[in-house]
Amino acid sequence: MSHDDDVITNQSPNSHINDVIEQRLQDPKRRNLFRGGMGLAALSFMGASTSLLAACGGDDDPAPAPAPVPAPAPPPAPPAGPTRASALGFSAIPKSLADSVALASGYTATVLFRLGDPMTAATPAYVNNGTDAAASFEFRAGDHHDGMHYFGLSGSAYSATSSDRGLLIQNHEAITPAFLHPTGQTIVGTLNAAARTVPDEVLREFYVHGVSTIEVQKTAGAWSYKQDSTFNRRVHTLTDTILVGPAAGTAQMITKYSINGTRTRGTVNNCANGYTPWYTYLTCEENWAGYFRRITATDNPNRTAKEITSFNRYGVAGTGRELWATVTPDTADNLYGRWNAMKVGASTDGSDDFRNVANTFGWNVEIDPFSPTGTNATPKKRTAMGRFAHEGAWPAKAIAGKPVVFYMGCDSRNEYVYKYVSTAVWDPTDATRGMAAGDKYLDSGKLYVAKFNADGTGQWLELTFGVGNVTAANPAYAFADQADVLINVRLAADAQGATKMDRPEWGAVDPVNGDVYLTLTNTNAASRPVAATDAANPRHYNDPKAGAAQYGNPNGHIIRWHEASPEALAFNWDIFLFGANADADPTNVNISGLTADNDFSSPDGLWFSQATNVCWIQTDDGAYTDVTNCMMLAALPGNVGDGGPRTITSVDALAATKQTQTFVAAPQGGKLRRFLVGPKDCEITGVAETPDGSTLFINIQHPGENSPAATVGDPNTFTSHWPDGGAARPRSATIAITKTGGGPVGV
Ligand code: FEO
Ligand code: CA
Ligand code: CA
Ligand code: CA
Repeated sequence: MSHDDDVITNQSPNSHINDVIEQRLQDPKRRNLFRGGMGLAALSFMGASTSLLAACGGDDDPAPAPAPVPAPAPPPAPPAGPTRASALGFSAIPKSLADSVALASGYTATVLFRLGDPMTAATPAYVNNGTDAAASFEFRAGDHHDGMHYFGLSGSAYSATSSDRGLLIQNHEAITPAFLHPTGQTIVGTLNAAARTVPDEVLREFYVHGVSTIEVQKTAGAWSYKQDSTFNRRVHTLTDTILVGPAAGTAQMITKYSINGTRTRGTVNNCANGYTPWYTYLTCEENWAGYFRRITATDNPNRTAKEITSFNRYGVAGTGRELWATVTPDTADNLYGRWNAMKVGASTDGSDDFRNVANTFGWNVEIDPFSPTGTNATPKKRTAMGRFAHEGAWPAKAIAGKPVVFYMGCDSRNEYVYKYVSTAVWDPTDATRGMAAGDKYLDSGKLYVAKFNADGTGQWLELTFGVGNVTAANPAYAFADQADVLINVRLAADAQGATKMDRPEWGAVDPVNGDVYLTLTNTNAASRPVAATDAANPRHYNDPKAGAAQYGNPNGHIIRWHEASPEALAFNWDIFLFGANADADPTNVNISGLTADNDFSSPDGLWFSQATNVCWIQTDDGAYTDVTNCMMLAALPGNVGDGGPRTITSVDALAATKQTQTFVAAPQGGKLRRFLVGPKDCEITGVAETPDGSTLFINIQHPGENSPAATVGDPNTFTSHWPDGGAARPRSATIAITKTGGGPVGV
């Protein structure tokens, strides 16, 4: 499913920088600092016409020359690594509503790994009509392919240079139930009494969530996966996992599954990802809260005020999105009951039920793809990196003698951007130590949350017990210790005054200059009214085709920042790129000057090629889908601050209010081109590449997901039959993209 079901649970008074901005605009000396920048490319500011979306007024010219302001710190000398391509090497393709993958001329896409594809020699081919045995899904590709990484493989070890053989490890975020079972989910009853009655359907769903590792190889120019590789592995909602770091083994983690709070079972809603300098994978638990059953009218009277505050802040309430807790009878090992987060036992510590189980989800989970069996095969949930709706975890370049740093987004409306800084400093000899290196760098560190100031500067605010407002005296939530802080990171970030953002999705670090880019996919007026715009989240406008519901920032933008060093606590930021219809108001909406060659909406996936430095942008859109399916674009990056100041005015006709914001936007003359458009009702997400940049692996998630639920099982009603065609049920799938004649993709 697409992610527009994100719940808004941030009721904190923190500003979305607008108050700050208003103050700033009254101070002419500071006007200039904002930089927005579309650094990407190609979007000249030449005008566009009217907008579908928008409404903000402003002008197109650079803001009047401001008084001198302190310039951002100059970027450090670029580290050794890729150099920048001077131009993109393909012609843009048009938008598309076809049920196929459209690709730039000169490139080929091969379907590699589809929902249900077998991952052992003994597993039969996928029938794809809902009858494939539930137990067989333990050895099949999961559904809703998402974040992904390629690790080169030589023999049975990591290779930094192997571009024709590797381990491809990827997430399976969620499911499209209509295509998994004969006629969708079997449910009896309604509302709080709704219940699943076919255990096999639920078992199938348990298995298709999680993570897949497959061995992939290129033979005679064609990619395939090795069905019988001993590296092939599924991690899913039934997999035993270890809780590690400061929150492990605490009272808040005790469940009937682990009465000392050191383990939990499985991972769920694995969205985007990360990878480490020691060749392991991070899978990130995003919208996990919705999977748990907690009927508040029944449960709240049995819980403490602090517990209820925590549940509310994370959205742990409701029947559970797939009703997994409702199967009866439960099994001896609580396969179903463990999804019930209500207090049902008599114990004082939760060792006889799953009242605390939601605290064991919402983490980054480390998996070593090179250790499919043995001691290091057990995934570890790294609690030092905090608990929230993790989109992904993107590493800064590892530098010997410096801490290891990851940037992370919490994907819900009005949530925050985080950074983890390890206590240990990087020792390159740890690169071959796998999970032991994870224990060293990911179990002890400091967590920070971003505050984007209206003057184009920013700070990382520390989320450590005893620092600032993160204490027992905090009025909204009395923190007890660091474990309590990590379990309730959102509340700690509220307390420190973090900046609310328009739904943080993926990040990516430019390997040339270390700048960090982060997609802010979209928001709406209900979540972030025009009065709450700020310099970092500055647009608010309407899509006339979509009606009042599309007031907000339906097309999203990409922010970026520069730090003098990855562990620095200060940064300078600007805005790299704004999504928009090419026809939108060029002054206040189509700020990046998008044209028919590159207009897009709702950026989500993001990746800097380590080989070419091209910035790949993927969309997960619901606002421009009458015009085009979701897509992937290529951009050439610039540098934070390389644009000029822009002032826009956002108007909300419904609210009869407007707001002016000033920020810096990326320079003209860059390059941004549409490279790929996916089939119907899909999201393009997940991107991995071979070390030489000659293959990009991309995921097509949930094609056909808007097929009418009322006629589930009737192929005539499927909106997509991709990739198999004919009357087939659509399947999420990984594709491999190569250039005719070889060479790096995109340049
Ligand atoms: Fe699973 Fe925020 O996308
Ligand atoms: Ca998705
Ligand atoms: Ca996403
Ligand atoms: Ca999304």
